Amino acid sequence: MNSWTLECSACRHTEPGDALATVCPSCGQPYLVRLAELPASRDVLRDRWDMWRYAALLPLCDGETPVSLGEGATPLLESPELARALGVARLWIKDEGLNPTGSFKARGMSAAVTRAKALGVPGLVVPTAGNAGAALAAYGAAARMPVRVYAPDTTPRGILATIRTLGADLHTVPGHIGDAGAKARAFAAESGYFDVSTLREPYRIEGKKTMGLELAEQLGWRLPSVIVYPTGGGTGMIGMWKGFAELREMGWLDPAAPLPRMVTAQAEGCAPIVRAFAEHADRARPWENPTTHASGLRVPGPLGDRLILRALYESKGAAVAVPETAIREGTARVARTTGIDAAPEGGCAFAVCQVLAARSILSAADEVVVYNTGSGVAYRE
Ligand SMILES: Cc1ncc(COP(=O)(O)O)c(C=O)c1O
Repeated sequence: MNSWTLECSACRHTEPGDALATVCPSCGQPYLVRLAELPASRDVLRDRWDMWRYAALLPLCDGETPVSLGEGATPLLESPELARALGVARLWIKDEGLNPTGSFKARGMSAAVTRAKALGVPGLVVPTAGNAGAALAAYGAAARMPVRVYAPDTTPRGILATIRTLGADLHTVPGHIGDAGAKARAFAAESGYFDVSTLREPYRIEGKKTMGLELAEQLGWRLPSVIVYPTGGGTGMIGMWKGFAELREMGWLDPAAPLPRMVTAQAEGCAPIVRAFAEHADRARPWENPTTHASGLRVPGPLGDRLILRALYESKGAAVAVPETAIREGTARVARTTGIDAAPEGGCAFAVCQVLAARSILSAADEVVVYNTGSGVAYRE
């Protein structure tokens, strides 16, 4: 039987697993799920091909059916051509664009809506750079729960159309995701809807960690030497790093093998984590006037800044920002050399690989995995 507690990532305050918790009441920092038991044997893996294959490592009670649309089990595609171009041993792209609603956000929302439904909340609200809103709309529909979404009015039109199609009550707001967040919190307070904002809700991280669990399994229970991840709110980075620590603790990975160096990819127009990393800081100052066409990266003040930076420092990783032209070129290069219709966020991650290679941060021995976090389809005008 899976059981867990919620533990504050900063002050260690804990809440029971069945609490309807947002952030820590003592210090305002995010909770992380602590599973009571970490199974030593891989026999616990379920015989199903979606992220719930890893149900034994997820917050799911015995006999409970997850709210699922077949998220996860995404392809890990090797590109010898891009590896050669970068001068590394091997390069794979983990194509998260093939998830329901076209992004990795499906994983987090499957986990979050499963718990919210079990806890009996009357409805769900989220501020979003776009893809999280589309994912919540889909999982809310699957769970037959009402959903309200606040998104910047600059969100790609294709993503806004998906949110409406899936029946969510969409509100566009001037400004960035931080402005949408203020509206979502006010609405949650007046309506009783549960706010599933990044890291104000503890379960999205758990869904995201399956990106890392799945990668390990796809590589035969080992990990690459470098992971490059386009970082906005940071749930993917934080979730994967948590997942790797759990795999280590369970003994599912070779204890002598180092964990990957984690690399944050951001856009020069909104790079709070890159700036904090360069300053060796443990918190990120909010970015003024954030701009980038990679809308998922337009997060000027991520609540999970400490946890993202901790993953980068602990893994001896890096954080690099690239200009808009490099993001466009990176996206086109991935598309034309691999056939993957990458989102600009994935293009940004590949463009960062080119910078890492030019600065000799990548070497001939490196095995690199680049996350393409979304599908390019929704970004077309
Ligand atoms: C396609 C895409 N990539 C990356 C991100 C950033 O995600 P994270 O919160 O995991 O940093 C987002 C967030 O909206 C996104 O939509």
